Amino acid sequence: MLERVHVPLPGRAYDVMIGPGLLDVAGKHIAPLLRRPRVAVISDETVAGLHLETLRAGLAADGIEMQALILPAGEATKCWAELTRCVEWLLDQQVERGDVVVAFGGGVIGDLVGFAAAVLRRGVRFVQIPTSLLAQVDSSVGGKTGINTQHGKNLVGAFHQPSMVLADTSVLGTLRPRDFLAGYGEVVKYGLLGDAAFFDWLEVQGTALAAGDGPARVEAVRRAVQMKADIVVRDETEQGERALLNLGHTFGHALEAATGYSNRLLHGEGVSIGCALAFELSSRMGLCAQEAPSRLRAHLREMGMKVDLADIEGDLPDAESLLALMGQDKKVVEGQLRFILARGIGEAFVTGDVVRDDVLAVLSDALAQR
Ligand code: GLY
Repeated sequence: MLERVHVPLPGRAYDVMIGPGLLDVAGKHIAPLLRRPRVAVISDETVAGLHLETLRAGLAADGIEMQALILPAGEATKCWAELTRCVEWLLDQQVERGDVVVAFGGGVIGDLVGFAAAVLRRGVRFVQIPTSLLAQVDSSVGGKTGINTQHGKNLVGAFHQPSMVLADTSVLGTLRPRDFLAGYGEVVKYGLLGDAAFFDWLEVQGTALAAGDGPARVEAVRRAVQMKADIVVRDETEQGERALLNLGHTFGHALEAATGYSNRLLHGEGVSIGCALAFELSSRMGLCAQEAPSRLRAHLREMGMKVDLADIEGDLPDAESLLALMGQDKKVVEGQLRFILARGIGEAFVTGDVVRDDVLAVLSDALAQR
């Protein structure tokens, strides 16, 4: 049940392998990339505690030795200090231009380690072994790497494509249900942005996916990764179409900032609430029927996900302040916010043509329901 999605970027094409048990055979997949049989692995405490020895054995089976650096788990790790620590450690390990660095963890580790690999010796190759659903369907593919700063998320980084992605779907079994569902927000995003049939499929299969259905998980990851690969190949550096992958993120990033990037709101939860708000805005602007946000909200509710601002514990700032937080978004062009809106499920598009008062009204009404 091993699936392969090829990302045919000229000069830096790579494969995304998807299936259960990939950690056990990681060495077989990585060995052809290596000039000498050793890799430097960077992971976090949670993932390392659960899976590092499995990866070590999977590499050793093909004679590959590994050194590991274990970082604290959590979004706060995606910072300048940990970037410095990664780069200095990789230099301590005498990682050379021809070696391969392995990012073993969720989106935080993938983004941070990918960026460290991008700047180390002006760029060394790296392999992504994503362990969260969010990282498997989104952040490990496409080469976006980076860290957060005090000005906001992902504001410093580089496009640096991995040389391979190994998405072992059996590790998803060790995720907390909340983390799985947060990642599911990114899965739903793919159906919403460009594939209504995938959204139909998720409406039927979502519950089984969450309950642990292995083949359904492989299929969901494969379809999401294939969509992402297709978009990345057409628009690697986000000059246009790739921005569609940020559906729900303009609202979501503002909510994450408002909650201090804390456990109050995980990134994927911000995305699912953000998708619901983006569809609500689309409907109010007359771009899509009210049925679209209603159907989306019904599915998210059925899955037990966060849907409304009322699902976020604690205080939130007012609508004006939330709008101001959106201003730091990378999608701002010449001071104007760009939104990903939709003409229906599976029909998203990018636009700067949004009236400020419409956004404020959507946010105010959503806050009023808290
Ligand atoms: N996660 C959005 C992108 O990779 O473009």
